[in-house]
Amino acid sequence: MSNPLSTPADSRFQPEDEAFLSIRHVAKRFDAFTALDQVSLDVKQGEMVCLLGPSGCGKTTLLRVIAGLERHDQGSIFAHGDDISLLPPQARDYGILFQSYALFPNLTVAQNVAYGLSAKRLSRSQQQQRVQEMLEMIGLPDSGKKYPGQLSGGQQQRVALARALAPSPSLLLLDEPLSALDAQVREHLQLEIRRLQKQFHITTLMVTHDQEEAMVMADRIAIMQHGRIEQFDTPDRIYRQPATPFVADFVGQANWLPYDRVDAAHIRIGALQLEVAHSVQQGSADTSSGRLFCRPEAVDLFPAADACNRFSARVVDQIYLGDRYRMLLELEQLPGQRLMADITNAVRSQLPDIASDALWISLPQRSLQLFS
Ligand SMILES: Nc1ncnc2c1ncn2[C@@H]1O[C@H](COP(=O)(O)OP(=O)(O)OP(=O)(O)O)[C@@H](O)[C@H]1O
Ligand SMILES: [Mg+2]
Repeated sequence: MSNPLSTPADSRFQPEDEAFLSIRHVAKRFDAFTALDQVSLDVKQGEMVCLLGPSGCGKTTLLRVIAGLERHDQGSIFAHGDDISLLPPQARDYGILFQSYALFPNLTVAQNVAYGLSAKRLSRSQQQQRVQEMLEMIGLPDSGKKYPGQLSGGQQQRVALARALAPSPSLLLLDEPLSALDAQVREHLQLEIRRLQKQFHITTLMVTHDQEEAMVMADRIAIMQHGRIEQFDTPDRIYRQPATPFVADFVGQANWLPYDRVDAAHIRIGALQLEVAHSVQQGSADTSSGRLFCRPEAVDLFPAADACNRFSARVVDQIYLGDRYRMLLELEQLPGQRLMADITNAVRSQLPDIASDALWISLPQRSLQLFS
């Protein structure tokens, strides 16, 4: 049967060599509202991909479409090159874990984990062995006889993870599995899930709206906004080479300065002229003006005397952030325009007493990005 959800182009689709899951031009509307807008994404075998974006951007909808719990209106989903767009959820054989643990309160921990195995036709002893393996894997080997109500939130979420993993699913789908937990337990489980994911080579797609969680856990991150993927890349490139102003703003801290272009290698910001590398131009073809982007830690507070883009500044305020300081600066020639500069505590201790002294700073060319 041909797939009515596929466009002619989709049916000729060849996935990337290593792609386990390929999403092609998937669209989903709820009445007039577009929840997913032409989403395409390739997830490699054994890869951990995080979907990161603000509330309402379509993360859960995309996960539900992949799981088969929601039917998309357009586009196709391929697993190992096979179009699975029309398969019911049970035929997709994916492990799913949602935000609330949703364990059965009247079943023991062992029975909860075994529940995931019910479709597997295992003998009783095989099932018991698998359950015990899973409980050992999540670090709760002696909790099989307990009930969920006798466990902490973090322990319950680990049991839910064991239940999702017990049948050895080919794909693990996690929707904010840690968001209900306190920070310490969450950080611990982030590393645990990543360790298990890597050890067993489980292809995983995880939704989060916590950028640090995505940075810690993901091989690649898909940044979503308004039902679209803005950038799909490694955490490092998402942070250091954001493809759009939204990504630059959503991940990490950003300095923005409005500029006018002078020539291919120079821009003007108020009374300042800056050298920029031509290759860092981003955005549309209109290059006459735009916004310059620079991370706070890229601002150099100890520039050489001949450093390029070296300007006189004054410290307006400083914020202690534990592992570093955020200095709030005002450039002498740009009154009223604040600039954040993050420095380590060690660097901070080398700065003279800065109350209102002027100092030299530079905006290194390689760390500047222009968006039109
Ligand atoms: N069944 C539905 N009927 C109508 N609108 C829906 C339905 N499900 C989701 N939406 C809408 O689609 C948009 C995307 O929802 P989705 O749950 O995918 O967002 P999300 O990125 O997971 O957000 P959050 O971070 O808050 O969980 C939202 O505006 C939501 O209101
Ligand atoms: Mg959601």
